[in-house]
Amino acid sequence: MPRYLQSSIDEVLNRSDLVDIASGYITLKRNGTDFVGLCPFHREKTPSFHISSDKQLFYCFGCNSGGNIIDFVGKIENLDFVDTIKFLAERAGITLEEEVYSPEIQARHNMRETILKMNKLAAKRYVANLAGDDAKGAREYASGRGLKRETISAFGIGYAKDSWSDLVDYLKENGFRNEDIIEAGLAVKNEKGHIYDKFRNRLMFPIIDVRGNVIAFSGRALGDSPAKYMNSPETPVFHKGSNIFALNLAKQYSATDGLILVEGNMDAVSLNAFGFPNAVAGLGTALTDQQAQLLKRYASVVYICYDNDEAGEKAANKAIETLSAAGINLKILSYSGAKDPDEYLKKKGAESFKKVISSALSPTEYKILNLRKKYNLVETSDKVEFINAAAEILAVNPNAVEREIYIKRISSETDISTDSITAQVNKIIYDKNRKSYKKAEREVQSTRTETRVQRGETPPTATYKAERLLLNIMFFNLSAYRIIRSELTQEEMTDKNHARLFEEIIKFREYNENSDAGMFLSSIPQDIKSCTAEILYKEYIGDATVAAKDLIDKIKKQNFKEKINRLAKEGKVDEINRLIMSNRKEQSN
Ligand code: CTP
Ligand code: MN
Repeated sequence: MPRYLQSSIDEVLNRSDLVDIASGYITLKRNGTDFVGLCPFHREKTPSFHISSDKQLFYCFGCNSGGNIIDFVGKIENLDFVDTIKFLAERAGITLEEEVYSPEIQARHNMRETILKMNKLAAKRYVANLAGDDAKGAREYASGRGLKRETISAFGIGYAKDSWSDLVDYLKENGFRNEDIIEAGLAVKNEKGHIYDKFRNRLMFPIIDVRGNVIAFSGRALGDSPAKYMNSPETPVFHKGSNIFALNLAKQYSATDGLILVEGNMDAVSLNAFGFPNAVAGLGTALTDQQAQLLKRYASVVYICYDNDEAGEKAANKAIETLSAAGINLKILSYSGAKDPDEYLKKKGAESFKKVISSALSPTEYKILNLRKKYNLVETSDKVEFINAAAEILAVNPNAVEREIYIKRISSETDISTDSITAQVNKIIYDKNRKSYKKAEREVQSTRTETRVQRGETPPTATYKAERLLLNIMFFNLSAYRIIRSELTQEEMTDKNHARLFEEIIKFREYNENSDAGMFLSSIPQDIKSCTAEILYKEYIGDATVAAKDLIDKIKKQNFKEKINRLAKEGKVDEINRLIMSNRKEQSN
């Protein structure tokens, strides 16, 4: 992959205009220095997609997608950074200048190129082998598993001969060296230094990345075997944990139909053959964060459809966690009467599988369904345990409407009132919020504590900390902002910078509904920038309105105490009494 000179990239960016580019995809109307149109990243009827032509930024108030020209092109064309730059360069008629490599980098680059060439050639060899006289067994196995000609050719499925040197000989004939063939993971060396084919007598699935490079192979034994699959080792072009099988085929359907994520290569192949070309498989490992990121780039929604056994359920739960953490919209397909999607399709057909998709479960629904299987709800003790466990699941679902729906269902199933279940769920949410709020309070402040101490200043007071968390919440959460705005004033901030930031946030909110910290930072005075960046660096993730009320209370009490102290020092007893009286009245209102 080339690396371009920064000056060259800068030139491309300087000569590309976001409004101009975006106009190629959507109709934009001018609105001051902004341009407005229908968002290309989500379905909508009224335009909420905005471009600031002077900032060269876009933002959609509907789906919150936003960024600069590179983000826009990358998202709309499904390109990574380098390909986006290439795309823009071509459009602007600029020739990109590549960085001059050090010899080591050049060598690594060459090695990758060599391996990719070799892999492509090997894939062709395997495909040709499958048509040969000595591949009768392989062809029988393939047709026995229901693989049709079109599917075989769509996936580039081939055959590694039952031979020690078929591929090595072929690659050597084509000018490749032993060491490179080993480096590519296509051959192995024994103790005597003899080199032989790694894959023998196996049905071969090439693993192809989204750019169309053959990066590795997965070889299926022809029949039952303890070593059912043999996979390429990690090589300079293949990292198991960052690739997804069949994404090269599925990616063109994934934006509209989402992706169906299965465990086995065979399941993905089978789904494809039955008319679900948006199927992909992990590569036999527990789903990694990198794989989740890759899926996120392509899929509007991911349907998890793992094997129907205990291992499959465990893996699905793990995948739910990993995919949710990546912020992926996700559903779970639950089916019965078959051990995996492959068997399901063969037994029940594509129409039936469509129904499985249309009745996909949300993660919460799926977890509660699995939980219920473990209990006998006629038993009182089981009932209590089930409700407690279900409440734990519901408490992490941020959607109140969904929570209520499930609470009603659980109530009618267990004959326990919705009020009791709701109370249990709310208690857990409350405890969790309190904990995470306390933790966030400590975290947001900890760096500040150190720097103040290093500077020899007094350590920050509780009010000082409270104000900082309050400002963070005020910036990031709109409903908390409204509460704070109506209950606190700038003057009640005890720190001068906090008071100024308070005011800046209000100014920003007059024109912006978003919480783009980068955009906000570019709009405020230089001397409070670093304090602001520090405060906004980590977004508070707990229940912001609960925290806001708590913090307002804290700050008000502190202000009150300080006022009393001040008046006491000045000996103004009458005023103190008046203040205390009016404060009591306020609190009883
Ligand atoms: N796998 C592997 N090594 C094994 C077994 C499995 O690498 N010994 C990986 C493969 O990528 C496989 C996936 O884990 O596709 C899921 O395993 P499994 O369900 O056993 O494989 P299937 O592809 O479903 O194969 P089949 O239907 O032929 O049993
Ligand atoms: Mn399987």
